[in-house]
Amino acid sequence: MGDLGPHIGKHVDRNLALELVRVTEAAALSASRWMGKGDKNAADGAAVDAMRKAFDTLSISGTVVIGEGEMDEAPMLYIGEKIGLGGPVVDIAVDPLEGTTLTAKGGPNAMAVLALAEGGGFLHAPDIYMDKLAVGPGLPDGVVDIDASPEENLRNLARAKKCDVSDLVVCLLDRDRHKDKIKACRAAGARIMLIPDGDVFGVVACSQPEVGIDMYLGSGGAPEGVLAAAALRCIGGQMQGRLMYENDEQIARAREMGITDPQRKYKLEDMARGDVMFAATGVTTGPMLRGVRWHGAGAVTHSIVMRSKSGTVRYVEGHHNFALKPKAFAG
Ligand code: FBP
Repeated sequence: MGDLGPHIGKHVDRNLALELVRVTEAAALSASRWMGKGDKNAADGAAVDAMRKAFDTLSISGTVVIGEGEMDEAPMLYIGEKIGLGGPVVDIAVDPLEGTTLTAKGGPNAMAVLALAEGGGFLHAPDIYMDKLAVGPGLPDGVVDIDASPEENLRNLARAKKCDVSDLVVCLLDRDRHKDKIKACRAAGARIMLIPDGDVFGVVACSQPEVGIDMYLGSGGAPEGVLAAAALRCIGGQMQGRLMYENDEQIARAREMGITDPQRKYKLEDMARGDVMFAATGVTTGPMLRGVRWHGAGAVTHSIVMRSKSGTVRYVEGHHNFALKPKAFAG
């Protein structure tokens, strides 16, 4: 991709949202061949490879801002990599395989995820933990706060939803580091959904009433936090995040990436600004997306795609016919 100059100021076409699905479909198809094979790196590699190739079909001048790592540690989709055929200047956030262990074990909810924003739209989050709190749409602004206790948040959420705390379900990653939060939620009377991996799903599911999650709580990857924020910008809901540092090196890294206040409490719009698009395709089946289903002649994929500008959420079922090239996605 050459000089971006002529493309600056070009608008992001709404049809691009549908094009993004091709990219997540390609990653999901490839990763799904590794389902249950016990090799999470191979599954991830297959997804990255397929996603990278699929980006070459998009008319964008994209820069990866949330990706597979630094240029010297990731051969493809590294931070700063330029992708696309040329077009509007956009920032790209990717997680080609969200749930590498889920895929390796054949567990639920693995998916290929990507988000796109107008240039400068995404928080450049380092690959460290982020403390996260999310609730769905239609609630008073600030109904929950990352600095409040789980008890207080649950009480306020129950009041806003006109229900009892015992009606609420809180989703957290099943990790030792969350044991105090889990204890506090249980003591407050809430019910709990512990997930083994995949907190992009956990956050986004707060905005999908059919899944039955009222609040997402706990720490996970910061890049996943930005991706989830992009989705909530489109589908509605509230989210707060705060980066968590294990050592001075991580603080220095965050500063290098432009983070001036390491303790900042990020709101949704601080993590994903402007016109944002989000797409995900299921790799393995979960409450939000069905996984890739293979049959003799090809495969069926299930994806979600959404845009902040219109607030439209589309579910796309892709029927891929590989009768002429049956090994196209062999893992
Ligand atoms: P991978 O797909 O990279 O394995 O990430 C899965 C995941 O569960 C994320 O959804 C989450 O943000 C992060 O890992 C949590 O990290 P940890 O496993 O260290 O608690």
